Amino acid sequence: MSPVCFAPDSGGGGGASTPAPWGETKVVGARLPRVDAYERVSGSAVYTLDLQLPGMLHAAIVRCPHAHARVKRIDTAKAETMPGVRGVLTGESPGAAIPWYQGREGPLSLLFDPHCRHEGEEVAAVAADTALQAHDAARAVVVEYEELPFVVDPDKALAPDAPKVHDWGNLLGQPRVTTRGDVAAGFAAADAVVEMTFRTPVQMHTPMEVHVSVAQWDGDRLTVWDSTQGVYAIREALAGALKLPLASVRVVGHYMGGGFGSKLELGKYTVIAALLARRLGRPVKAALTREETFLVAGNRPSNVITLKAGAKRDGALTALEARLSGPVGAYPTSAVSAYQIGDLYTCPNVKFETTNILIHAGKARPFRAPGFPSCNWALEQVVDTLAEKLGLDPVELRLKNIPTVSQLNDNAPYTSTGLARCLTEGAVAFGWTEARRRPKTAGHLRRGVGVAAGMWGYGGDPNATAIVTLYADGSVNLNTGASDLGTGTKTVLAMVVAEELGVAPDRIQVEHADTATTKFAPSSGGSQTVLVNSPAVRAAAIEVKRQVLEIAARQLDKPVGDLAVADGAVVVAGAGGKRVPFSELKGLGERRMLVGVGMRHPHPEGKLALPFAAQFAEVEVDTRSGAVRVLRVLAAQDSGRVMNRLTFNNQVFGGVVQGLGFALTEERVLDRATGKMVNANWHDYKVPTMLDSPAEAECLPIDPHDTECNTVGAKGLGEPAHIPAATAIANAIHDAVGVRPLEAPVTPARLVALLAAQERKG
Ligand code: MOS
Repeated sequence: MSPVCFAPDSGGGGGASTPAPWGETKVVGARLPRVDAYERVSGSAVYTLDLQLPGMLHAAIVRCPHAHARVKRIDTAKAETMPGVRGVLTGESPGAAIPWYQGREGPLSLLFDPHCRHEGEEVAAVAADTALQAHDAARAVVVEYEELPFVVDPDKALAPDAPKVHDWGNLLGQPRVTTRGDVAAGFAAADAVVEMTFRTPVQMHTPMEVHVSVAQWDGDRLTVWDSTQGVYAIREALAGALKLPLASVRVVGHYMGGGFGSKLELGKYTVIAALLARRLGRPVKAALTREETFLVAGNRPSNVITLKAGAKRDGALTALEARLSGPVGAYPTSAVSAYQIGDLYTCPNVKFETTNILIHAGKARPFRAPGFPSCNWALEQVVDTLAEKLGLDPVELRLKNIPTVSQLNDNAPYTSTGLARCLTEGAVAFGWTEARRRPKTAGHLRRGVGVAAGMWGYGGDPNATAIVTLYADGSVNLNTGASDLGTGTKTVLAMVVAEELGVAPDRIQVEHADTATTKFAPSSGGSQTVLVNSPAVRAAAIEVKRQVLEIAARQLDKPVGDLAVADGAVVVAGAGGKRVPFSELKGLGERRMLVGVGMRHPHPEGKLALPFAAQFAEVEVDTRSGAVRVLRVLAAQDSGRVMNRLTFNNQVFGGVVQGLGFALTEERVLDRATGKMVNANWHDYKVPTMLDSPAEAECLPIDPHDTECNTVGAKGLGEPAHIPAATAIANAIHDAVGVRPLEAPVTPARLVALLAAQERKG
């Protein structure tokens, strides 16, 4: 897992005083439309891709068209004379020899490395007056390549004669084995044992907004507008790459159109924009084309997972043993996660081995719960099969194995575990028992239902600082470093201020994600955004409230204890108590503003705060065509407190539909003959549309009223909403037609083949 976003939660330290947990809330939890909804839907919101600065140039990048090649010669003469062209950048240009991709013993590559290890690697760049001129000129750069042998199939990459991605070969590190208990003894004690091998696809992030940066220099100071999930992380990496002090680099990330993990790390295009802008003395925008994002902006690696599981007659798991492997692409990262095998269920005997493989393809990046949906695809189908073998209801078997402690973390207790409630209450809301009893056969259209559970394994970086300012007219500014990926972060954080300070959300302006004007917030990833930033925002609002009440107490000559805030005013306790609007507080008028700075408190000592989920799906399989329609889904989510019911639902439905893509349609295809991606576009790479989405989707929040996880009671949502979604569909397919879809996506061709094999077997 990426260290930035997914380091295992190690608990907290330190000790700022923490406010009491919320009980009932007035604003928080409501269905409030996004505070910037109008800007977003009307097109007036300026995304990085929309940004136009005076004199701005456009960059286009020359990319290696081969899976593996060495650049012999670059001729930029023709490109440099083309209309509108202002400059060309290659690895030879001053300041361009920037190391890229860290290995164990130093950098493995360069910004423009003559040794290209995958299709799409950066070779040169051009800046021109318009984007079209830049792309024309990039095409006119003549590059002579020596093509080299390549390997893009992870099944073949570890063969002794496979072409090597790096000198040491194609195994990244050594396979890692994790063990607890004694799996052999566990299987010996089991009444049923199941072993299966699963394959999952390479899934692409496909955010609506492509990856894009705009760079502008003012002397030695650099400002970059970036479509990013974390302005602070990008600033750190950018300052490092350009050898600038942190204070000289400003990164701004306002409206942004999705990332799903692909916008956590610094992109080469950002540095290219900065280098061209410095050389040419003009702002430069570098935007990837959609096709380029498929090649160089990350992916969820495919996994091969062999999983063996044993259980007692009553469903209690006795042993889990697994081997997981996957391709990281051409540079180091992590391709697999066995976390759920170790922790989703109570199981005394567990062993798993993880292997990361290098191939000549674009590097993987974190993608919505890195490794988790792939692992879930194996674990939750095996658990389903065990239930079938033992004649148990799949919900019942899962309920037999609910954990209250994290076995992977020295049995540290969870602050709350809503998993059992997700399963039981989800089953009732879905009509699980009734649906399972319905007869299956209806001609060639067969219906089935499935369930899958899941959990997420990261509790958040507890460092975040927020500032709340109350102005003399009663309006409020909320200042936070958090990026809003489109999920509604600004809205939820404004609601926290509204709750605590008694002002309407529409009186609150949110200023965010700008390293020059906001304080630190960790990247919006790892499902941490709300649970890390909300407590800091709440603390800042509480501090402003304290000052307001002090001022009011003096003005009204009342003890602070008799005063409260509500509806933009200070209210005196008691029937018919006096009400003084903030704008009429003299002390506030004199000071012009009251400022509260709030910091995030540490995580609870020795405990883990993690979210859980159980999702239910009903599908209809056309046994003639192999087409699967997902008819309805119910997602029961224990993510703690619901901060905004509307954005909560949005996150959940998005996670479900992205899981539907994983289960049924999405798959990167690399051509074995050329090593090139053949579906690097939105026509051939099939992302589900509204027509593919379930007609009925229901979200059932399970709130365990967790008063320990943090001061707002919310756990993460973005990732857990996605983790079990694909597997619930797989289990429903099995229920409908009796075949096990081991390989995702379950395309019509694959399903027809499975059905034909089943028929042959009789
Ligand atoms: Mo995510 S993969 O933490 O954006």
